[in-house]
Amino acid sequence: RMRIAINTGGGDAPGLNAVIEAVVLSAYNKNWEVYGIKQGYHGLLDTEDIIRLDPNKVRNISNLGGTILGTTNKGNPFEMPVENIAGEVEKRDLSDRVVQNFHRLGLDCLIAVGGDGSLKIAHDFHKKGIPVIGVPKTIDNDLSGTVVTFGFDTAVSIATEAIDRLHSTAKSHDRVLVVEVMGRNAGWIALNSGVSGGAKVILIPEIPFDMDLVCEKIMEGEVMGERYAIVVVAEGAVPLGGRIVHKGSGEAGRQEVVLGGIGEVVAQSIAAKTGKDTRSLVLGHLQRGGSPTTFDRLLALRFGAMAIRLVEEGKFGHMVALAPPNVSSVPLEDAIGTSKQVPMDSDTLRTAKDIGISFGAPE
Ligand code: F6P
Repeated sequence: RMRIAINTGGGDAPGLNAVIEAVVLSAYNKNWEVYGIKQGYHGLLDTEDIIRLDPNKVRNISNLGGTILGTTNKGNPFEMPVENIAGEVEKRDLSDRVVQNFHRLGLDCLIAVGGDGSLKIAHDFHKKGIPVIGVPKTIDNDLSGTVVTFGFDTAVSIATEAIDRLHSTAKSHDRVLVVEVMGRNAGWIALNSGVSGGAKVILIPEIPFDMDLVCEKIMEGEVMGERYAIVVVAEGAVPLGGRIVHKGSGEAGRQEVVLGGIGEVVAQSIAAKTGKDTRSLVLGHLQRGGSPTTFDRLLALRFGAMAIRLVEEGKFGHMVALAPPNVSSVPLEDAIGTSKQVPMDSDTLRTAKDIGISFGAPE
């Protein structure tokens, strides 16, 4: 009788509960036990905050946002910030404690649901003797090895709906509305929502932008009688010829001095250069909250069921992946460590250009 542990790590993404539901129900069908580890790896550190998950606890949670297990992106057990007796915070490697607790609890394997950071930790634990299966999660879609991650479709849908709503207010006031979306160092959310929502300009990290070209595009619309515009800016977008110092809505923007979100920087520049009445907004964590779309829910259920199949096959050290039309698996090490950005031959990118959307760069 297998005893399977499952945890969710890093930023939450819609679909996490669907993975948990499918893992528990599939395992139950095999007469296996599933234990949920709370708050990423924390439940295996001091607190041993672990709950037995049976079908009654998880049935029909697939439509719930967030994660019933909780998550954290502050606790890498390999370099855990701990306060020493002098009151200073130092990083300590507490991974042995996690491994010991794992074995002491009689657990056989761990299904780690996470993005790049959490799956890297999972891979390190795999190397330390914990049999691990990874399940890819992130709204940013920046994980290699899988065509898409769950959470992404929901984030794009929320951003698209927001852009749709901005059209009417922007049009009524002849304004430029700049909307900053998440995505870390990848432009997937900005690209897909910007194209779907009819943005005039989309700025993504993969294509450094030139403010003059952004403004040219806006003024070109003006001449044609289209006196308003929506500009979608990925939080990790950077101007041509250098790094901008800004505070994004998340991680990508936190690397440097705080000056305001990149969306606001772009908005101020548009107002100054074109004289257009311009406003900006940051969508932020709205993009992660609430129910998953049907696509994400189904993908997450498929990922969860596949994780149990991989346990059965003994394919530890692998990550579940979407390779349409099927769900397959790839070695964990092939998925982690590189941020998957929008390739320049992306069909969506090409479509955007074909329908006249500008990326603030020469064609
Ligand atoms: O990786 C998901 C994500 O939402 C990014 O898009 C964003 O940069 C970051 O997490 C925000 O992190 P936090 O929730 O810690 O603010």
